[in-house]
Amino acid sequence: MDVIHSVAALRERLQREPNNVFVPTMGNLHAGHIQLINIAKPRAACTVVSIFVNRLQFGPREDFERYPRTLEADCDKLRAAGVDVVFAPDEKEIYPEPQTYVVEPSDLQHILDGAVRPGHFSGVSTVVLKLFNMVSPHSAIFGKKDYQQCLVLTNMVHQLALPIEIILADTVRADDGLALSSRNAYLTADERREAPRLYQRLCRARDELASGARDYQRIELDVMSELAHHGWKPDYIAVRRQSDLQPPQNGERCLVVLAAARLGKTRLIDNIEANV
Ligand code: PAF
Repeated sequence: MDVIHSVAALRERLQREPNNVFVPTMGNLHAGHIQLINIAKPRAACTVVSIFVNRLQFGPREDFERYPRTLEADCDKLRAAGVDVVFAPDEKEIYPEPQTYVVEPSDLQHILDGAVRPGHFSGVSTVVLKLFNMVSPHSAIFGKKDYQQCLVLTNMVHQLALPIEIILADTVRADDGLALSSRNAYLTADERREAPRLYQRLCRARDELASGARDYQRIELDVMSELAHHGWKPDYIAVRRQSDLQPPQNGERCLVVLAAARLGKTRLIDNIEANV
């Protein structure tokens, strides 16, 4: 496995690999990332993983500084998973001068997580487009835990006609249902015990939808108030249609329930699809 830090060296290494599949990450890898790699590996001769904590997608009061940076442990995991190339640039390599040209996604960037985290999806899209230009993969894999991110990036690839197939992977969960996330490391022991409630409550909302409930607002408010009752501070709970994350019209069958809520100092997001 080659660990590469500069764009020039990456391009040289990948000249020999016209057929590569790409998994972009911010490091601090867990079983969810390894699942993305397992999906990637059979698809190409060369699997490339990037590790880069992207300042552009963090708000001024978010956790950019304390985001865990664990390159050595990450590389051990990637080696064991059979990755061919790790691209771990420093900030100057990705943003050699202030990045004044940025990708502005559609209105999708202003709703749900975008409303709570202004600029987040522009930051994600900008870095992913740059990484795509550096790696030139034929496909790239993203996890559905970041449901809105998946839609933003799928739309970007489509609208900018990038020759890259986007593959979406199911969320990997702990045995008690908690979606795996690097941010779970911030939870105290008590919070970690409480955390699975988010997914349990989403499952109940999904079951209600599956058994015919269509009073979406009531479903959202029920989840909100139960979480609040147990000490959470929900940013949003939203029943939306899968295709564009807009509120569902009557008769909509492909739904998703999305949630973002704070538990102590940690902000957790999750979602569940409901094909009703
Ligand atoms: O999902 C992530 O880890 C990040 O948003 C990504 C796609 C690597 C861009 O920084």
